[in-house]
Amino acid sequence: MNPFESRRKALLDQLEGAVAVFASAPSTIRNNDVEHPYRQDSDFYYLTGLDEPDSFLVLSAVHPEHRSVLFVRPRNPEREQWEGPRVGVDEASRRYGVDVAYPIDKLGDKLPEYLQNAERLVARVGFSRSFDDRLFRALAQTRAKWKTGISWPTAILDPIELLHEMRLHKDAYEIDIIRRASRISAEGHRRAMRECQPGMYEYEIEAALSHTYRVCGAARHAFEPIVASGPNATVLHYTRNDRRIEDGDLVLVDSACELQGYASDITRTFPANGSFSPEQRAIHELVLAGQQAAMQACGPGTDLEQIHRKALEVIVDGLIELKLLSGQRDDVIMEQRHKRFFPHRSSHWLGMDVHDVGRYFVRGQPRKLEPGMVFTLEPGIYIPPMGDQAPSHFQGIGVRIEDDILVTPEGYEVLTSDAPRTAAEVEAACRA
Ligand code: GLY
Ligand code: MN
Ligand code: MN
Repeated sequence: MNPFESRRKALLDQLEGAVAVFASAPSTIRNNDVEHPYRQDSDFYYLTGLDEPDSFLVLSAVHPEHRSVLFVRPRNPEREQWEGPRVGVDEASRRYGVDVAYPIDKLGDKLPEYLQNAERLVARVGFSRSFDDRLFRALAQTRAKWKTGISWPTAILDPIELLHEMRLHKDAYEIDIIRRASRISAEGHRRAMRECQPGMYEYEIEAALSHTYRVCGAARHAFEPIVASGPNATVLHYTRNDRRIEDGDLVLVDSACELQGYASDITRTFPANGSFSPEQRAIHELVLAGQQAAMQACGPGTDLEQIHRKALEVIVDGLIELKLLSGQRDDVIMEQRHKRFFPHRSSHWLGMDVHDVGRYFVRGQPRKLEPGMVFTLEPGIYIPPMGDQAPSHFQGIGVRIEDDILVTPEGYEVLTSDAPRTAAEVEAACRA
């Protein structure tokens, strides 16, 4: 059984009287008649492996014969001449292992039938108006037959309950892909360090990353790459990547590829001229120390709140020592004064989405880590230009160090360890 079929089976086994409905991502207009590059919806791809728009998947635990049903675009030689081949209705069941396939224009007739006699409906509502419209219209049509003795779903369950729990726990097949995505991304970072010279533009580094990912077989960037030199490194979501890199700058690169539908996520910060200044080194070492302390807390049974707290304590202690903050560590944290320099959390889940699905809290408590979960560890310190509110020699420095962590039965594995991390490793990679 291919991974997509076994995931559908695993989800169906939990549906118990429910029907689940998933839609492909729409193709979207970029400007006028030009489309954005197509990226399939992660839930839909996880369950089908089908990379086409205008498709629906219905999983039913109540239909007497059909457990998996696909709706796809029909073949159309004229459109396919422009857009490339479509799987089509006849081929879809065989290729994707579903019980039956229909043309997408039959969805309005067929979906109400599949909703009949289901007690619950699993669907992600509230994200797409067109999905909601189609789903609710089908639900209303099913309900309209209430006097005929049929029943209909009386509750809607968010996929986070079942499907996203599955996606949060990665199996060996998925871990292998993320590991390979991480290796390719690390190669991109090594190349960025090697090729960067003062006088280059940030977009030249972006181009080196893109080239590395594509020649290594990755489909695309996992997210818009950040190549932030000098003071741009203190802007968390800087993506213009159009500044000239100056001698003495730090360059913060937050970039990784997407491979076979799975993201990696790496940040490294390196000196443009190959040598950290004393202030840059001090901040880099502090971020690294925070990350190391947090990493030591990783493993089954701990949680992302405890892990973040470890990084935060080390970083706040260091910022007090460097006179960027004053007072006692616990007071600084309680009053959230660290947020001026470390405004974000240390972790997010990683998987098909770079900020992957899955609950962070269960019944109000941080969820315990389990083997197979993958998350990032990415503390940072950002000291924007701030006049007389901070010592001038630290102003304009931004450092983040981000790695991808797999929880293993024994502890953890750093999937991104091919990317140079310590100041000495980074300087050596810049001079390679
Ligand atoms: N690259 C996005 C993030 O680090 O969360
Ligand atoms: Mn991240
Ligand atoms: Mn990142």
